Amino acid sequence: MKKLLIFFQIGILFFAPLAQATGTSNTEAAHTIIREKACLSCHIVPGLLPAPQAGIAPLFEGLAKRKRLVGGLLTNTPKNLRRWLKNPKAIKSMTLMPNTALTDEEIEILIEFMNSL
Ligand code: HEC
Repeated sequence: MKKLLIFFQIGILFFAPLAQATGTSNTEAAHTIIREKACLSCHIVPGLLPAPQAGIAPLFEGLAKRKRLVGGLLTNTPKNLRRWLKNPKAIKSMTLMPNTALTDEEIEILIEFMNSL
């Protein structure tokens, strides 16, 4: 029993820093995409400096808690969020949001990041 406990404690010591490292690196990856794709010129993103005109678009903060997206046009599901990020104008032709040519991998990183805000 005692051996099992020690084994467990060593496990925690070993894996806890690993879990932390994963979280941090994904946030950084999300920040990089957000900077490179100029999301900041319209959206205010916690932890990043906003552009002067940012704020014309919905805040990223609290996105996971919203029931609907894009002014009520979409229910807030991961599938709809993916569709929106992939090609906003296919959902709302008059939207100001451009197609930023995100890859599927970038979209997953962004969704994970937005869900953590
Ligand atoms: C030129 C301005 C602009 C840029 C650049 C832009 N967006 Fe948007 N975005 C908008 C606007 C405006 C909306 C609101 C939808 C609408 O009614 O048109 C929106 C909506 C969204 C939504 C839905 C939020 C909600 O609550 O409805 C998400 C998510 C989003 N944008 C993510 C991004 C990401 C990620 C990027 C960068 C890859 C980005 N946007 C770049 C203008 C922009």
